[in-house]
Amino acid sequence: MKGFWNLTSTISLTLCTLFLFVYNYEDVYAVPTTHLCRPEQRDALLQFKNEFEVRNSSFPYNSSFSYKVKSESWANNTECCNWKGITCDPKSGEVIELDLSSRNLGGQLHSVSSLQTLNYLTTLDLSGNDFSGHIPSSIGDLSNLTFLDLSDNRFSGQIPSVIGNLSHLTHLVFQSNQISGQIPIALLNLTELSTLLLGKNQFTGRIPHNITSLSKLSSFDGSTNSFTGALPSSLFTLPSMDTVHLSDNQLNGILDLGNISSPPKLRVLYLGNNNLTGPISSTISKLINLGVLDLSHYKIQGPIDLRIFSHLKKLRHLDISYMSTTTKIDLNDILSLSCFKRLDGLVLSGNHVSVTNKSPISDRPNSQLLTDLYLSGCGITEFPEFIRPQNLQRLDLSNNKIKGKVPGSLWTLTYLYYLNLSNNSFTGFENATTHGLKFRIPMFLFASDNNFTGNIPSFICDLYVSMLDLSNNNFNGLIPRCINFKDFLFHLNLRQNRLHGGLPENIFENLRTLDVGHNQLTGNLPRSLIHSPYLEVLNVESNFFNDTFPFWLSSLPQLKVLVLRSNAFHGPMHTTSFPKLQIVDISHNHFNGSLPSDYFVKWSAMSSLGSIYYQPDEKYMGNSYYHDSVVLMNKGLEMELLRILKIFRALDFPGNKFEGEIPSSIGLLKELHVLNLSNNACTGLIPSSMGNLTALESLDLSQNQLSGEIPQELEELSFLSYMNFSHNQLVGLVPGGTQFRRQNCTSFDGNPGLSGPSLDEICRDIHTPTPHETPESEDEEEEEEEVLSWIAVVIGVIPGFAFGWVIGYILFSYKPEWFMNPFVRSKPRRSSNTTH
Ligand SMILES: *[C@@H]1O[C@H](CO)[C@@H](O)[C@H](O)[C@H]1NC(C)=O
Ligand SMILES: *[C@@H]1O[C@H](CO)[C@@H](O)[C@H](O)[C@H]1NC(C)=O
Ligand SMILES: *[C@@H]1O[C@H](CO)[C@@H](O)[C@H](O)[C@H]1NC(C)=O
Ligand SMILES: *[C@@H]1O[C@H](CO)[C@@H](O)[C@H](O)[C@H]1NC(C)=O
Ligand SMILES: *[C@@H]1O[C@H](CO)[C@@H](O)[C@H](O)[C@H]1NC(C)=O
Ligand SMILES: *[C@@H]1O[C@H](CO)[C@@H](O)[C@H](O)[C@H]1NC(C)=O
Ligand SMILES: *[C@@H]1O[C@H](CO)[C@@H](O)[C@H](O)[C@H]1NC(C)=O
Ligand SMILES: *[C@@H]1O[C@H](CO)[C@@H](O)[C@H](O)[C@H]1NC(C)=O
Ligand SMILES: *[C@@H]1O[C@H](CO)[C@@H](O)[C@H](O)[C@H]1NC(C)=O
Ligand SMILES: *[C@@H]1O[C@H](CO)[C@@H](O)[C@H](O)[C@H]1NC(C)=O
Ligand SMILES: *[C@@H]1O[C@H](CO)[C@@H](O)[C@H](O)[C@H]1NC(C)=O
Ligand SMILES: *[C@@H]1O[C@H](CO)[C@@H](O)[C@H](O)[C@H]1NC(C)=O
Repeated sequence: MKGFWNLTSTISLTLCTLFLFVYNYEDVYAVPTTHLCRPEQRDALLQFKNEFEVRNSSFPYNSSFSYKVKSESWANNTECCNWKGITCDPKSGEVIELDLSSRNLGGQLHSVSSLQTLNYLTTLDLSGNDFSGHIPSSIGDLSNLTFLDLSDNRFSGQIPSVIGNLSHLTHLVFQSNQISGQIPIALLNLTELSTLLLGKNQFTGRIPHNITSLSKLSSFDGSTNSFTGALPSSLFTLPSMDTVHLSDNQLNGILDLGNISSPPKLRVLYLGNNNLTGPISSTISKLINLGVLDLSHYKIQGPIDLRIFSHLKKLRHLDISYMSTTTKIDLNDILSLSCFKRLDGLVLSGNHVSVTNKSPISDRPNSQLLTDLYLSGCGITEFPEFIRPQNLQRLDLSNNKIKGKVPGSLWTLTYLYYLNLSNNSFTGFENATTHGLKFRIPMFLFASDNNFTGNIPSFICDLYVSMLDLSNNNFNGLIPRCINFKDFLFHLNLRQNRLHGGLPENIFENLRTLDVGHNQLTGNLPRSLIHSPYLEVLNVESNFFNDTFPFWLSSLPQLKVLVLRSNAFHGPMHTTSFPKLQIVDISHNHFNGSLPSDYFVKWSAMSSLGSIYYQPDEKYMGNSYYHDSVVLMNKGLEMELLRILKIFRALDFPGNKFEGEIPSSIGLLKELHVLNLSNNACTGLIPSSMGNLTALESLDLSQNQLSGEIPQELEELSFLSYMNFSHNQLVGLVPGGTQFRRQNCTSFDGNPGLSGPSLDEICRDIHTPTPHETPESEDEEEEEEEVLSWIAVVIGVIPGFAFGWVIGYILFSYKPEWFMNPFVRSKPRRSSNTTH
């Protein structure tokens, strides 16, 4: 069996081949009609070409096609009907289709775009690029358009109301942009529309009640916007309506389904994660064609009778998680309902669920199809032993109170690849019946935050685990040497246990994350790590590693996070290059020596975010199943980043014995948010180049032997909300900028030579507000995973894990955003049994 990476490469390769094939196909089979192209249309295309740019892409195929569009293919004096992406009417020669989807194009289209001359166009597809700015209003002149797709770009502003003139439109796809404002009333004039996809934008206002004038509408997606108000009941009864997707909005009020006389066609209904409240009308039982129903986070605030779903005999996926109902749901009962014969996905997380271990579910015909069962945070106290449907793929039992051992029978479920047991009170694993283990598919096993003790069981080596999270337990002993699934292992998190011995020398070719922080590990960092070319996160903090600085890690092209904090690393820091490194924490070790002034010249990721254009948004490191996290000192507090924003940059060197001057090349690290060099033996001046660190929010230079003045340039750093210069030998005036005046007086302590009016002001007022706010994360676990799982389920054809994988690994991207986000939480310093 091939590894995930190989699988991914295969998928990418297939996409790529397909892509190339399509183009070769076009090249070979494009009808070589001569002089069909109309000169004015050719000129319009040539002008349009000047409205966009070609972007570099991290996506598997390279940009050669796009460059061709720009340079070769679309050239004056050639037949424009043969140009790539163009289709002409074979008789008249008019350009009727323009398909530039996913071609790495970008830029802002002119509001009076030369597109308007192409007025015979029936299809315009610019999806999957990086276009920004407003949607050109001249698109409204293309009155023959039936298909308009601008999805997956960065278009912003409102939908121009002239779109309402495109009376032949059947498909209008604006998904995944940054479009705002209300749904224009003019859109309701598009009576031929069958597909209207507006999801993942910033739309506000109500869903217009007379959306019913779109009488042919069959697919409506307004999910992940900020729609408010009540849902128009007419939406569900439109005769042609098949799919309504309105999850992740702020719709409120009661779910009113209106009067349903004849059964609507509606098959798919997503209403999760809104602000809907009140009882669920029994009218829902009239939606007998429903296959997918998502009512998660519907605040019932009372009892629910699950029998209202009993007429929905075609139901395959039911998500009624986090309903705040007072009813305790009996899992046995719900799975016994004869209506759920076809059910393959059931999400009950966040409700009170009882599991009484009766007869095995596998004995019941209606559980045979069950592939996904989510029971997170259901107050379950005993393992639902009866869950053994042979098709089970994903089982989430996290955040319960389950005690005892994890039953060995689980491992006989051949298709089970996602198992989440984290945050329970498990104490051990039953011995696995090794029978069957060899035929398992690779597995994501999450068992963090339990009460596991003893050695990590060796049968784990027989599971093909690709994500293994055993963090925050009491495992002791050695890390099993048998963990040798070198093709499979992507994320290994053994943080906060009592493991000892060295790290295995095994080669993990596809490893992305290795986190063994807070254990009692000793020895060197194994040099075999250089055979993990995809390694992004290496965290060995709070152990007893005794090694020199691992400069050899610079050969890892993807290394982004390196945490060596609180070990016995020692010696000088060699000058080296870390092109992708964005978070480095080497604090509390025994590093010494001075850093040459050009030390940071080759730390490219800290000096720029890069010009690579990334495919769709994925803001955090990791994937839909696993998010990397890290604990850092920020603004004087220990802070746990539960998810790491891809744009976050931090450099933590405190508590070593660095001497000499702070390298002036530090000023190159323009993207840095956090810089901490405190508690060393640095001398000389604070480099004025620090005035170039325009993203800096937290600066700690305390407890060194720095002399001279605080550079006035620091006054310009408008995000710098926390500074600490205490206990140095600084002299002269403290700069007077706003950020300085907001500091705590203690930030300047122990520098008798400092003076000036701003210092007087800072230290006069004992009621100086705390310079740092401490954001509290309310719910650490998002439902994102579930949402993605559902999408995977709905997509169906793609095996679930391949989907998660693709989302997580192929499609990298970032969106500039304030890095302080809900997934950050501050907390008091945790006492650790391995502090040095
Ligand atoms: C294309 O070439 C024709 C004549 O060769 C010229 O009239 C026309 O302006 C050119 N168009 C562009 C956009 O350069
Ligand atoms: C895009 O890639 C090409 C070739 O790899 C390179 O020469 C060019 O500088 C890159 N452009 C940008 C904007 O990064
Ligand atoms: C794209 O790929 C082709 C063939 O694989 C190669 O010849 C070409 O140089 C590549 N172009 C870029 C811009 O990387
Ligand atoms: C739309 O197409 C028809 C032919 O299909 C043509 O007669 C008509 O002029 C076109 N409309 C515009 C605005 O070009
Ligand atoms: C909708 O179309 C009607 C006629 O078909 C027209 O009178 C009205 O102005 C249009 N409304 C909008 C908002 O475009
Ligand atoms: C839809 O309703 C709004 C007011 O709610 C009205 O202004 C508009 O004309 C209506 N449009 C259609 C097509 O019925
Ligand atoms: C949700 O609804 C409740 C009452 O129905 C209201 O108080 C609250 O402000 C709403 N929240 C949002 C985010 O709309
Ligand atoms: C589990 O298996 C190991 C080795 O196969 C054996 O030593 C141990 O006694 C078994 N434990 C139980 C509870 O069966
Ligand atoms: C975890 O196990 C230890 C003994 O190994 C016990 O003292 C402790 O109470 C257990 N904690 C929980 C939450 O079960
Ligand atoms: C690290 O190892 C060296 C010998 O290799 C030893 O001399 C030194 O004491 C060790 N340091 C610590 C902190 O254990
Ligand atoms: C800050 O950066 C600019 C260029 O980005 C450079 O010209 C200037 O010398 C830098 N300033 C310092 C003090 O290093
Ligand atoms: C200033 O910092 C000290 C030590 O960090 C802290 O104890 C004190 O509360 C802070 N004072 C204010 C006003 O924030």
